Amino acid sequence: MKKFLLSLISLAVVVLVALLIFAFWPTTTPTLAAAKDADQAALIEKGRYLADAGDCTACHTAKGGKPFAGGLPIASPIGTLYSSNITPDKASGIGNYSLEDFDRAVRHGIAANGTSLYPAMPYPAYARTSDDDMRALYAYFMQGVAPVSAQNRANDVPWPLSMRWPLAIWRKVFAPAPQAVAFDASRYKDPQIARGAYLVQGLGHCGSCHTPRALTLQEKALDESGEAFLSGGPVIDGWLAVNLRGNPADGLGNWSDDDIVATLRSARSATHAVLGGAMGDVVVHSTQHLNDADLHAVAAYLKSLPPTKDQVASFKADPATAKALAAGQEGSRGAELYVDNCAACHRTNGQGYERVFPKIAGNSSVLSQDPVSMIRLVLAGSKLPATATAPSELGMPGFAWRLSDEEVAQLLTFIRSSWGNQAPAVNAEEVTKLRATLPKESPAVSRTDIAKP
Ligand code: HEC
Ligand code: HEC
Ligand code: HEC
Repeated sequence: MKKFLLSLISLAVVVLVALLIFAFWPTTTPTLAAAKDADQAALIEKGRYLADAGDCTACHTAKGGKPFAGGLPIASPIGTLYSSNITPDKASGIGNYSLEDFDRAVRHGIAANGTSLYPAMPYPAYARTSDDDMRALYAYFMQGVAPVSAQNRANDVPWPLSMRWPLAIWRKVFAPAPQAVAFDASRYKDPQIARGAYLVQGLGHCGSCHTPRALTLQEKALDESGEAFLSGGPVIDGWLAVNLRGNPADGLGNWSDDDIVATLRSARSATHAVLGGAMGDVVVHSTQHLNDADLHAVAAYLKSLPPTKDQVASFKADPATAKALAAGQEGSRGAELYVDNCAACHRTNGQGYERVFPKIAGNSSVLSQDPVSMIRLVLAGSKLPATATAPSELGMPGFAWRLSDEEVAQLLTFIRSSWGNQAPAVNAEEVTKLRATLPKESPAVSRTDIAKP
């Protein structure tokens, strides 16, 4: 027995030592040569555009804080992380970073002191950024961003989780090395789709929200070689990061290129509207700044992704619901609730009003397998963000104060099975669960247009 214990302990020691060697073994990265005789002003401008494409501001600018000075709290499974100051301030920011230091942080996930970064910084996606684009980003951050003196805030991660060496193991196992995923446009059948793939997989890091993750937290696929890529991610802030593949009902299968472009440019489109939560911020900080050619490239690439095999929802336009409601035959409590609370804006035919009130018939969010976003929307309402091309903030009131959990479930079950929509029913427990997560004065609740009694 003693002998057995001893050999078990020595085995554990050997494994631990092996893990430590693996973690601390330095990662060698190819040196990135500086830009040659480039026109500096043009290079900085290009870097500014790429920083928008990468949405660097979303995480590196705190609410009300100076651009890129960091300090934004980011929730993670192990505690709150605070983003870093990436302004060129020499004492508190990245002013002393060489091009190579910057490259190691952004594409490899290694800080200047050699420790690994948390993947809350999306370096597994940024790894695909080209050398030329890295040089432009560096020029912008060094010369186009104002230095701000702001000390980095320590993360609120308790020991032992705060040790960074296990992070090095994660990085080495799951984050691709840039040289291994160097972008190869010849894999795509046309250059426009290739450009879209480059933006979506790389700087756009769309998969960091829209791709499901494994238990060990890496995205299940980083490009279209895996069917899980962009097939729908976790719930963020009560909003499901929906399926962006070609699924006809709950994906982008029925969206036109123009719908996708309009959505990414102005958070609105003729037929689909609504971008809740995190995606509204993506549009405001990032995609609305992309040029036409790039937005069409992103749309073309998304439209090239085939549907996933398991399809739960479907849609086939059916006039029966509209006829029955128009004739005053509601036939269920859910239908009554719809007529009383929703039809004024979304109409009894479920078609809404183009560009103002989204249609409900065939709406991919309504048909989403997981109804969590729809529950959140009906309880807490929502407000479309203002964008440069559509400055008004259009809102939908929340009904949390007015409808019980059972009523919300009946109402949603009705809209998910009417006008030709076919998606699973919603039960009251799901509503109770979500209601409990809404802070009483959450922005979503207090932002609604109807005053609570
Ligand atoms: C989704 C959030 C997110 C986005 C988007 C993001 N970052 Fe980060 N970044 C972080 C976090 C969090 C850290 C700190 C990680 C840590 O403490 O391990 C970080 C760290 C860094 C660092 C290392 C700083 C240091 O002190 O060594 C650099 C450089 C950086 N980011 C640059 C960028 C650039 C450039 C972009 C846009 C192309 C970007 N980040 C986009 C979250 C993000
Ligand atoms: C005062 C007008 C108004 C009323 C009443 C209203 N809505 Fe809305 N609805 C909107 C607007 C505006 C949007 C777009 C809001 C946004 O994007 O933030 C919207 C969006 C939606 C969407 C689209 C979701 C998506 O992601 O595409 C659904 C579904 C929806 N409403 C269902 C309902 C239901 C169910 C009711 C009744 C409980 C209701 N609405 C009541 C104005 C209204
Ligand atoms: C920070 C997380 C996050 C990132 C990054 C992100 N998205 Fe989203 N996205 C969401 C969420 C959450 C929704 C659902 C919003 C809703 O239901 O109202 C969404 C919705 C969408 C929709 C609308 C789909 C529908 O059926 O309503 C499109 C299109 C979209 N995202 C495209 C993209 C693209 C392209 C990128 C990369 C450039 C991207 N997203 C990056 C979180 C994200």
